[in-house]
Amino acid sequence: MALTVVDHPLAQHLLTQLRDVQTPPPVFRTIAKRLTIAVMLEAVRGLPAVEVDVQTPLERTTGRLIFPDIVAVPILRAGLGMLEAVAELFPEVSVGYIGLERDDVTLLPTSYYEKLPPVEGRHVLLLDPMLATGGSAAGACAKIEERHPAEIRFICVVAAPQGVDKLRREHPHVSIFTAALDRDLNDRGYILPGLGDFGDRLFGTGSDSGLPRSRPR
Ligand code: PRP
Ligand code: URA
Repeated sequence: MALTVVDHPLAQHLLTQLRDVQTPPPVFRTIAKRLTIAVMLEAVRGLPAVEVDVQTPLERTTGRLIFPDIVAVPILRAGLGMLEAVAELFPEVSVGYIGLERDDVTLLPTSYYEKLPPVEGRHVLLLDPMLATGGSAAGACAKIEERHPAEIRFICVVAAPQGVDKLRREHPHVSIFTAALDRDLNDRGYILPGLGDFGDRLFGTGSDSGLPRSRPR
C-alpha cells in the first residue's frame, strides 16, 4: 500500500491555518476546500487519462484529459468538507455517501447511512479528512471493496500512524494521500498534534475553546 504525504509548501501553509485553534468555521471550510485541491494534485496522479486533440487560438495540439469514470465517496459528516473541491475539479463525478459515527468511548464506528452508485471497475476517491484509529476508513473500504471497484484512493488531511497501519493491514491495496502524518493519538482517539474534531470545526458544533466536545448521551 502506498502512502503519499503531500508536503508541498502550499499544502503546509493551508494545513497550518486549519490546525490553528483560532480559525473559525467559515474560514475553516474555505481552507479545507483549498487543501483538498492541493492533496488531489497528488491523488489523481496515475489515474487513466486519454490523449485528445485540442485547438488553441493559435494552432492544434494534443492534451490529456483524466478519464472521468471516478466515484467520490465522502464519509459523513466531515468528508463533506472535501466533496465540493472534488466535484469542482471533476464536474461529472458520481457521488456516493457512507455515514459513520465513531463512538466516543469504544472509538468504533457505527454505520448509519449508505448510498453508493455502481462502483464495479471504477476508480473510487474515498474522502475523510481524519485517519485516526483507522476504524472508519477501514469500515468504509470494506463496504466499497465488496462491490469490486478498480481501486480505492483514500484522501485525507491528517493521518495518525495507527490509522495508516490499520489500513495497511486490512486493506493493503488502498493507497493513502494525506497532507500530514502526525505523531500519535491521545487517550480519546484524537490525533496529536492534529487539528481537533474536524466535523465540529467544519460545522460549528464544537466548544468555544476549539477542543472536541463529548457527544451528549
Ligand atoms: C471523524 C472523522 C473520521 C473518524 C476518524 O468522524 O471524520 O470519520 O472520526 O476516526 P477513526 O480513524 O478513529 O475512525 P466522526 O466519527 O467524529 O464523525 P463526524 O464526521 O460526523 O464528526
Ligand atoms: N476525528 C477527528 O475529527 N479528529 C481527530 O483527531 C480524530 C478523529
